[in-house]
Amino acid sequence: MKRYIKRLNLVGVSLLGIGLISGCGSSGNTIQIDDINSSQFLLTDKLPKLHILPVLSDEDGNLSDNKERYTLIANQDVNVKIESPNGDWVTPMWRYNNNPLPVVIRTYRGTDMTLNFHNKLSSDSTIHWHGFKIPADMDGGPDYPVKPNFSKVYSFKMNQPASSLWFHPHPDMQTGKQVYMGLAGVYILDDDISTNLENSKKLPSKDRDIVLLVQDRRFAKEVDGVRELLYKDKSIDSDGMLGDTILVNGSETPKLEVGTAQYRFRLYNVSNAKNYDFAFSDGRDFTIVGTDGGLLKNPVKQNHILLGAAERVEMIVDFSKDKIGTKVALISRAFEDDNMNMGMSGMDSGGGDMQNTDGRVANGTEVNIMRFDINSEIEDDITIYKELPANSEITYRLDPYSADNFGDEREFDMTMAMDGSMAFVINGKKFDLDRVDEFVEANSTEIWNITNNSAMAHPFHAHAIQWQILSRNGIASSGTDLGWKDTFLVKANESVKIIGRFEPINSGDYMYHCHILEHEDAGMMGYFRVGNSGNLDNR
Ligand code: C2O
Ligand code: CU
Ligand code: CU
Repeated sequence: MKRYIKRLNLVGVSLLGIGLISGCGSSGNTIQIDDINSSQFLLTDKLPKLHILPVLSDEDGNLSDNKERYTLIANQDVNVKIESPNGDWVTPMWRYNNNPLPVVIRTYRGTDMTLNFHNKLSSDSTIHWHGFKIPADMDGGPDYPVKPNFSKVYSFKMNQPASSLWFHPHPDMQTGKQVYMGLAGVYILDDDISTNLENSKKLPSKDRDIVLLVQDRRFAKEVDGVRELLYKDKSIDSDGMLGDTILVNGSETPKLEVGTAQYRFRLYNVSNAKNYDFAFSDGRDFTIVGTDGGLLKNPVKQNHILLGAAERVEMIVDFSKDKIGTKVALISRAFEDDNMNMGMSGMDSGGGDMQNTDGRVANGTEVNIMRFDINSEIEDDITIYKELPANSEITYRLDPYSADNFGDEREFDMTMAMDGSMAFVINGKKFDLDRVDEFVEANSTEIWNITNNSAMAHPFHAHAIQWQILSRNGIASSGTDLGWKDTFLVKANESVKIIGRFEPINSGDYMYHCHILEHEDAGMMGYFRVGNSGNLDNR
């Protein structure tokens, strides 16, 4: 209970004020993230330094040919040192290219990509390009598995607006485990618009443009300096795999030393099942300039942002008015969550101490994510753009009246399966690897209506294109919902209407699913076919 009160106090309390709160939740020399108190987190000198994720380089040796080539090898049992305020340990993880950290690929719009994937896992895998507008046979879905010790060449042209994308395995029923074990990478796409904004100092760039990859994990107890990742049977926990340890760029609750300037953070929620309501410990505002599919036409200022699993934002955080020595934490605020396990145990939600004893920290629980230490005086030369140039492809809004299925929108209904399996389903069906569920005309514009009739929030994701959100429960979109999205949270009892345009590049069989990966693996997924042919059997 004491802990809960402290949490309620955390947001909006200034650094000075925090010193007045007494009592400390942790004992001994371990600081557990679930009971660390805010003043400890702001004062401790034990936080590891944030790793900057490594950017792979083009292997074709020619930097001016609009072609790039990369190799991604999925390796099992890569011993990774996890840095932590509690002391470091070693964890065997699954990583690309034996790299101890998640890797980054950064390319320019118009590039022809060749990605050689080698599967060195002992199970099937794929690389799915999350948020990419590419043909279905390059999309890396479960219908194109790559067997152990086999390879696949993914090749496609990147022709979409600058955005913060990512990639991850997507094999049948193994996606959750493989991502959890450490296979996920970042893909940053630049274009003329984003580059001009950077060059004209309307967006921070270079060393003030930083990827923050947030994931929660559960680790087993230490045995001889090693802590194994725990991945439990997904049927045990209907909320999906939730953990008690927050990793940012591979380290537990790290810190980043920053100067007195504006920074651009590409904030990725790459957790299996966790939603975060990101905010700062002093309640400061920040400016969101981008969503999943690219830059926002008009930046949006706010003091928190709820991101479901797989959602991303680009945010500008202003440290220019901070005194040297200031420390500010990025946290996830307590929030109301329609949480299955809470519901079933009859406990009230409300974002408190709802975790059970085995390292599962429920959605809605306040946690510390990382810390920013303002420690140098630097010139802040950035004035954030007010509106994207009118010629940016990304600024238009799709007109619902122009949709090919206007008045007869495609419906997706998320519910619990009726077979007692505790699994979630879409339109009453569990995923079937050989069944196409929806048929979409080539080059069409469609409105989809996603309704959540279950007791918890689900991040809905569809492959192939980027979407615009038209409305939530009939209320027209505003703020960051005006950005392009490939994944968005649909809360319990909410209906989200989206519109999207399938382009000539889109053809074949793609997936839509819940991006709580344990839900997806348990069948909360379906296929849609764009155009009249695909690789799956039916039709
Ligand atoms: Cu990020 Cu179908 O997935
Ligand atoms: Cu995807
Ligand atoms: Cu779900």
